[in-house]
Amino acid sequence: MRLPALIDPHVHVREPGQTHKEDWDTATQAALAGGVTTILAMPNTKPPIFDAATLDLALGAAKAKARCDYAQFLGAGPSNADWDRHQALLPQAAGLKMYLDSTFGELRLDDMTLWQQHFQTWPRNLPIVAHSESRSMAAVILLAAIYDRPVHIAHVSLKEEILLIRAAKERGLRVTCEVTPHHLFLTRDDIVPSPLHPSAIGIGEEGEGRFSVRPRIASREDVEALWANLEVIDCFATDHAPHTLAEKDGENPPPGFPGLETLLPLMLTAIDEKRLTINQLIEKSVTNPRKIFSLPEQPETWIEIDENARWEIRAADLRSKCGWTPFEGWQVKGRVTRVVLRGREAFKDGKVLVEPGYGQNVRQK
Ligand code: NCD
Ligand code: ZN
Repeated sequence: MRLPALIDPHVHVREPGQTHKEDWDTATQAALAGGVTTILAMPNTKPPIFDAATLDLALGAAKAKARCDYAQFLGAGPSNADWDRHQALLPQAAGLKMYLDSTFGELRLDDMTLWQQHFQTWPRNLPIVAHSESRSMAAVILLAAIYDRPVHIAHVSLKEEILLIRAAKERGLRVTCEVTPHHLFLTRDDIVPSPLHPSAIGIGEEGEGRFSVRPRIASREDVEALWANLEVIDCFATDHAPHTLAEKDGENPPPGFPGLETLLPLMLTAIDEKRLTINQLIEKSVTNPRKIFSLPEQPETWIEIDENARWEIRAADLRSKCGWTPFEGWQVKGRVTRVVLRGREAFKDGKVLVEPGYGQNVRQK
């Protein structure tokens, strides 16, 4: 079956600075293998991407190494809330990412006067994405209403959050949101010590081990609320956040899961189980992200899937550098067989066929 190629609006590429976890080459190979031809890269790299010089650094690496199309977010920091002085730079970015809650890296913003300054100076017609959980989500939706602009909420995971967004939308507020596959397919109750998940000890508590992720994996009730409110979810986004297995199983496991290569098989399995429709998948992984982030159509671009292929997810078969997946051993139905990107066969039968540098910056004029 032929489908439109997917867009993933939330990917941690790790370059510059942490290329032992991932880089522009491996992240975009993982994307293509997952049926994704456009990724939007997050700014919590080392250094974080927060001005012209750091944006150049990320885009330089991307230009040389990316195999699929991309754009790079700028991060909201304590010293760059004067975007009105850098007008020319802003349309070159995917959008502005604001970290308002606990995260990996240095970009967390606690001072609410800074939130206001970013909202004041970032142009209304360019995207703002907020990592804001629970009550800070309510706060950021209020800010968007005050400044009369849209806001996109990253990785919604809780019942109270999806109900808040539902209510905000019903009131006519311009809020959109994304949900990750891990928050749709894993619950806190599933993840108990087991031979399959040896390092997961009581997720959501101290010592989450390998299953540490932000936002945390939620309760069964939360996960059910996400599925019950599918129409409120604008986008699927992987929040592909690779950390090596050694780091994940070490002393202080950094939060984050890889996800680019497992999104589509998990969704195709859900479609097979009649929990999701193909149209919902296309809406949330193609149409809506294209509209929300103003992404161009890619001509002569599509993916082909074998919706009947049954297989087992194994980290050993994945292209991400991180060497593990929270879905190890899962039986899925549906596989990407071929990806055509701008007229070229980019992936076929397990092999990536385009070279580093084939990917284009979708924000370049
Ligand atoms: C992300 C990472 O590792 O960069 N981790 C995560 O658990 N999602 C950071 C983030 O998205 O907050
Ligand atoms: Zn993230």
